Amino acid sequence: MNDKKRILSGITPSGNSLHIGNYFGAVKPQIELQDNDEYQTYYFVADLHALTTVQDKKKLEENIEQVVIDYLSLGLDPEKGVFFRQSQVSAHAELAVILGNYISYGQMKRMHAFKDKLQKGTELESINMGLFNYPILMASDILLYKPYGVPVGEDQRQHVELARDVAENFNRVYKTDLFPLPEPLISKELGKIVGTDGQRKMSKSLGNTIGIFEDEEQIRKQIMGCYTDPNRVKATDPGKIEGNPVFIYHDLINQDKAEVADLKKRYQAGQVGDVEVKENLFEAHKKFFAPARDRRAELVNHPEKVEKILAEGARKAQVVANQTLVEVVEEIGL
Ligand code: TRP
Repeated sequence: MNDKKRILSGITPSGNSLHIGNYFGAVKPQIELQDNDEYQTYYFVADLHALTTVQDKKKLEENIEQVVIDYLSLGLDPEKGVFFRQSQVSAHAELAVILGNYISYGQMKRMHAFKDKLQKGTELESINMGLFNYPILMASDILLYKPYGVPVGEDQRQHVELARDVAENFNRVYKTDLFPLPEPLISKELGKIVGTDGQRKMSKSLGNTIGIFEDEEQIRKQIMGCYTDPNRVKATDPGKIEGNPVFIYHDLINQDKAEVADLKKRYQAGQVGDVEVKENLFEAHKKFFAPARDRRAELVNHPEKVEKILAEGARKAQVVANQTLVEVVEEIGL
């Protein structure tokens, strides 16, 4: 286990329930890395980071529980990878205090999250220091595990680059190679799954999503309301497959490849209606996510199992994180 290259990523407990765009664009590729023998994955819920925006105790607790249970339900396996809560490994906060000394205020002011707020006209008085310092805490999250790679979305690239800068500065000051430089692992096409409007990336704020854990009636509605081929008026008109979201989803979700091939053929020949294609998609969705929905129901009913998984994950993470912290403390003379 120790010779494997480490992969590390943090998951923000946003409170939004996951949709199939999140799943195929981010969650599934992340989870699949746990099955790769070359890697040891470290994934954590970034609950300290969540404090920058969520300052309501109950809401924070709910958001954390939701994201933990969603990931476990969707296949994150605590036997294969390490899964924990950031706040349960105190080295994250400790190293962040130290690392702040190896990055300049000028560079921090150029970070997007902060700059964007200012540009949108937010007053300095209402930007908390947690937000300003967010990239330092994130650098700490990353560098503690000396990971080879950090799988994140394009929006997080600048943060991983800052972690590299901090590591380089530190290594230069102490003439050491204590911190290896982490690679951002960003897959361009992956992140993007088109929404049910057939236009834009699937996203909660655009209302063009298909859920995973919502009740079936809701998911059925989302699927039936899906955009298809706008030039097709009647079921007997030949239809277009390329870029048609209903078929993009079939390719992702429907395990019955023969059925998908048959639907495509009949669609192009004008021998099947949109409704049938969507009904089939709904059935495929039910089948595909049934195991995850069952696991979710089980975990919701057994919070003690979730607690145990997180405690065990924190214990494993602490071994690595505390070791790095000791090396740092010795290196700098504390
Ligand atoms: N900032 C990341 C996001 O919003 C979450 C995160 C926190 C993270 N710490 C991290 C991701 C460390 C990768 C590595 O998605």
